[in-house]
Amino acid sequence: MDATRIEEVVGDFVTLKKRGVNQIGLCPFHNEKTPSFTVSAPKGIFKCFGCGKGGNAVNFIMEHEHFSYPEALRYLAQKYGIEIEEEKPSPEQQEAMDEKESLFNLSAFARKFFEEQLHETEEGKAVGLSYLRERGFSLEVIRRFGLGYCPDKWDAFSQTALKNGYKKEYLLKTSLSKEKDHMIYDTFRGRIIFPIHNLSGRVLGFGGRIMTNEKKRPKYINSAESEIYHKSKVLYGAYFARSPMASQDNCFLVEGYTDVISLNQAGITNVIATSGTSLTTEQIKLIRRYTDNVTLLFDGDPAGIKATFRGIDMILEEGLNVRIVLFPDGEDPDSYARKYRPAEVKSFVEDQAADFISFKTKLLLSETSGDPIKKAKLIKEIAQTISLIPEPIERTLYTRQCSEMMQVEEKLMVAEVDKLRRQRFKQQRLTSSEKEQLQDPPESPAEKQTAGPYEENHTQEKELIRLLLNYADHTMVFEVENEDGHIEEMPVKVVDFVLQDIREDDLQFDHAPCQQIFDLFAEKRDNDKLPGRDAFTQYPDNAVRELAINLLATKYSLSPNWEERHKIHVVGEEEDLKPRVVQAVYAFKLRKLEKMIDASQQLIQQAESDETKDDEVLMRLLETIRDLKIKHRMFANALNRVITK
Ligand code: CTP
Ligand code: MN
Repeated sequence: MDATRIEEVVGDFVTLKKRGVNQIGLCPFHNEKTPSFTVSAPKGIFKCFGCGKGGNAVNFIMEHEHFSYPEALRYLAQKYGIEIEEEKPSPEQQEAMDEKESLFNLSAFARKFFEEQLHETEEGKAVGLSYLRERGFSLEVIRRFGLGYCPDKWDAFSQTALKNGYKKEYLLKTSLSKEKDHMIYDTFRGRIIFPIHNLSGRVLGFGGRIMTNEKKRPKYINSAESEIYHKSKVLYGAYFARSPMASQDNCFLVEGYTDVISLNQAGITNVIATSGTSLTTEQIKLIRRYTDNVTLLFDGDPAGIKATFRGIDMILEEGLNVRIVLFPDGEDPDSYARKYRPAEVKSFVEDQAADFISFKTKLLLSETSGDPIKKAKLIKEIAQTISLIPEPIERTLYTRQCSEMMQVEEKLMVAEVDKLRRQRFKQQRLTSSEKEQLQDPPESPAEKQTAGPYEENHTQEKELIRLLLNYADHTMVFEVENEDGHIEEMPVKVVDFVLQDIREDDLQFDHAPCQQIFDLFAEKRDNDKLPGRDAFTQYPDNAVRELAINLLATKYSLSPNWEERHKIHVVGEEEDLKPRVVQAVYAFKLRKLEKMIDASQQLIQQAESDETKDDEVLMRLLETIRDLKIKHRMFANALNRVITK
């Protein structure tokens, strides 16, 4: 953490320009034309005032690269040449890790071997490379996707791997090799190799294509499921498409390896493939990490259309938006991209992309040929798909569109969609009765009452903490009368003023993260120290860290009073800190008093409605309220003086 410089970490991905003490750039997390993404080197944080994302260097890497926390730490350690001592795992954990690592290592070795075979051996060049070149693949995409070639010999790869110390056990577990009659042979022999990467670029498995049109042997052989390769969780090309998917906020989903590569060559880089298996929810969730928009690119053959229908429903059900481009019969994205120029391919997918209702209607309406019964069936079919959309607004819009296109009354369409949704709920409830038990009980009116009349967003508490985080060690000068009646200047640090004032009245924060930050200040200050900003921006607890980062990145006072009454925005608030701090403390106390008054009033209501009401209790409560109200007025006046001074 000490070695990490936020501006360097972010600078690897975002072009930053100096702006005052900060640096700004275009936010990598949302689309923008004018920069609102701010990096503060002294504070060690970033914050986008457009989309609200913010955090420290680790958070940035986690968010940007979609890494887990440990992965982000390893990344930073590597960047700054720091060795990480990992906690010693148990023997079983170690064994599992070793095995996974061994499978990864062997896969990396295999990828390199296949690639060398393709580019550097006579056989590879004559058979493999020439095949790929003939298909129109450029050397650049062949290299980018790490394509390779496995020699057409019994065990060329297996023997090389064994000689290099890779265990037979792992050769079999990755299914790179197979065993028959105690003989080991290459699974992918005589095939073009397509390595399959995970999101951080490590190779998990392979696809291998024969180079002939013969029908006897399968066109593709793929790695079997293994400890490191889970087909249902992987999308081919996702590693290369991650950034383009996020920056273009869309992805093209195709069927095959060659579709991904050809489209890349045509300059369309946000492409991923299901690789012949049907789309899974896990794959859709992976897409959602980058974008909410999927465009399906499928063949116009019956199998392709069927796959498209299934894909549409699944994607909608996960709450993503889906559009569809159907290629002319007999074409797939790869063949289309080979036939037409890149610009033509681009405009084709852009112009053809249809929403799912237009797509289904166009496709199926011709089949109905005016037959009302068939038409009704089609409407039901589309209603079925619409009913899967979780978002009510989108569901409504699609319902309207469908009723317009199919020329049925919207009311009828709504009724149909609602009916289907109810049916599905009923089914779900029947199949999982536990679900019902997990549901929250309906809110009782009593609970609602105690929630208080205003929405709680802890503004006052946060403002106080914001001032602490930003200016704890700043000095404010108070004028006090000394023993001989002279006025003397007394410097007080912001942190001491706040701590003393709050602790004097033994007040607690309602917002737990605020209390945690306050406690950390108190604890350090009692030892005559001050916590650095890092202590908060690197704080392990998410809620505390996020609050601290947000407050550190907030440009102005959170309190509306201040800006409003001063009419103008005070630019350098550190130059005019004293009234702000004093105001924040008063406002905090005032809010506390308001809450206490509220609570007491509730108690009085209860006591009054109580049959066995005790007059003495009631009296005492009324007294409490009176006291609180007096205090409240005092503070309100004091606060007013500070504000209007
Ligand atoms: N596939 C497979 N096994 C097969 C056929 C296909 O695993 N026997 C998978 C592959 O991942 C392939 C995808 O399904 O990429 C799509 O199949 P297809 O369209 O037949 O192959 P293409 O990728 O288009 O390959 P090519 O253009 O070379 O025919
Ligand atoms: Mn093809």
